[in-house]
Amino acid sequence: MRSSIPLLIAVCTFNLCMLQGTCKAHFRRKLTKMWGFSWANCGKPDDPAVLKTLELSPDPIAIPGDLTASAMGTTSVELASPLALNVTLEKEVAGIWIKVPCVEEVGSCHYSDICELLDTLIPPGQDCPEPLHTYGIPCHCPFKAGDYTLPQTDFYLPDVDLPFWLTNGNYKAQGVLGSDGKELSCVKVSLSIHST
Ligand SMILES: *[C@@H]1O[C@H](CO)[C@@H](O)[C@H](O)[C@H]1NC(C)=O
Repeated sequence: MRSSIPLLIAVCTFNLCMLQGTCKAHFRRKLTKMWGFSWANCGKPDDPAVLKTLELSPDPIAIPGDLTASAMGTTSVELASPLALNVTLEKEVAGIWIKVPCVEEVGSCHYSDICELLDTLIPPGQDCPEPLHTYGIPCHCPFKAGDYTLPQTDFYLPDVDLPFWLTNGNYKAQGVLGSDGKELSCVKVSLSIHST
């Protein structure tokens, strides 16, 4: 019997707001909250690398537009090559979460060593790209044990070569970092994109 009470409350609330004509706003607010930005560590409690804070705004993220981000993470072990990363990216399409395939290293991809990938993207010996350089955040392996902080930083997200109906919407991403078959970290993020 107890389990029917929340349902009863939901039905009553719905009927009440129908009467008052505030339903749409009320439920839209609820849905936005459910679909908007959120993040969590998703690994085992003893995972050595965890995210401590992550903030992104605006919500939804506008493309093209400005994005403000800040983050803090910590690792109790040195992160060294080979560092495997498995990314799962999902997009909500008509109320169903669809896995986005890996295309040209973007999407739900399995990277066998992101240390190697970083060396290809950013030639070693060169300054790390901003804002990493300013805050002294390294961009090559190994990453020493310790805390890493990205203070609040503004980015400009340029227009993408995709139609708005493809980029617009709700996304979920999960990244699992591992080395020698051991899980080091797991982080998941949900966000909404509004492209124009
Ligand atoms: C990534 O996925 C592959 C295939 O499912 C698995 O063998 C591997 O252990 C995973 N790596 C990590 C870091 O989770």
